[in-house]
Amino acid sequence: MNKKDDDLDYETTGHEWDGIKEYNKPLPRWWLWTFYATIVWAVLYTIAYPAWPGIREATPGLLGYSTRAEVVDEIARFEAANSEINAQLASVELTEIVNDPELNQYAQNAGSAVFRSWCSQCHGSGAAGVQASGYPNLLDDDWLWGGDIEAIHATIAHGIRNEEDPDARWSQMPAFGEILAEEEINQVVNYVMSLSGEPQDASLVAAGETVYLDNCAACHMDDGTGDRWQGAPNLTDAIWLYGGDYDTIMETVVYSRFGVMPPWTERLSEAEIRAVATYVHGLGGGEAPAE
Ligand code: HEC
Ligand code: HEC
Repeated sequence: MNKKDDDLDYETTGHEWDGIKEYNKPLPRWWLWTFYATIVWAVLYTIAYPAWPGIREATPGLLGYSTRAEVVDEIARFEAANSEINAQLASVELTEIVNDPELNQYAQNAGSAVFRSWCSQCHGSGAAGVQASGYPNLLDDDWLWGGDIEAIHATIAHGIRNEEDPDARWSQMPAFGEILAEEEINQVVNYVMSLSGEPQDASLVAAGETVYLDNCAACHMDDGTGDRWQGAPNLTDAIWLYGGDYDTIMETVVYSRFGVMPPWTERLSEAEIRAVATYVHGLGGGEAPAE
């Protein structure tokens, strides 16, 4: 039962606490109508747009709107807008890309995006590789397989030591643990360390050189500078794929290594492969085309 306040002519709810009474005043009309309007809006909205969750998916809504379809449209629009320049990128001479400022700019930007999605998990987001992990730094001018645009493109397209692509780069350093005596391995490891000036046991170096020339020079060359045909690293430059300390070199020589990179022709378009090759080539270590 509502009561009247004795002093003032207002209805109260009857609630009273410590002499304080609660007035019973109607809500302002504008507020109430706005409130009803929001309810009506909400109901219409859930009918028009995807809203109520079901077991497999939400109710689709009468307008058929879907964020997924919108993304598909967006991608299609983006691809249509770039189709001309992508076709150009995929068809020009690889060595000409860098000479066309507009194409080069596009390839650098697109290549950087490809790199971030597909390459950075192994080569690092800045392409600096991961120290002593077998994932090479792509910023420097030390190349395992070659640093001109053609070589980089071939490496990326077909990958390295993978079974998926018959044109993958391939080579295999033998595991010398089964070939050489322990003493010889110890000698050759010290010789390798001497090549780049790592501290080593100088008394073993001369014997190590003999072991080296007999067993290693075929791939790493007499002077230790490596061979790009076989992806055999330069051992003289103190840039290490796996590490230049005694224990790591010992491990490399005893067990050998088998660095694998997947081929990209299945996952990326030719334009994308060329874009990312242009990007990697432009990172600092890119070499001029072979004469
Ligand atoms: C699963 C890991 C992995 C991913 C992903 C990967 N790479 Fe590699 N990449 C490697 C490894 C390992 C090597 C070195 C293999 C060896 O020992 O010769 C390598 C080598 C290379 C080389 C040769 C470097 C040289 O010195 O000759 C290039 C260029 C390269 N990657 C580019 C790329 C690009 C571009 C992508 C992305 C499209 C990519 N990689 C994605 C693992 C990866
Ligand atoms: C058949 C060719 C071949 C022969 C022979 C060979 N290597 Fe290698 N070596 C390679 C290749 C290829 C790699 C790179 C392996 C990889 O990345 O998976 C390598 C890597 C290395 C590395 C790692 C370098 C780094 O940057 O971490 C060292 C050290 C090395 N070899 C030393 C030797 C020594 C010492 C011998 C002789 C006892 C030898 N290799 C014989 C092909 C060869």
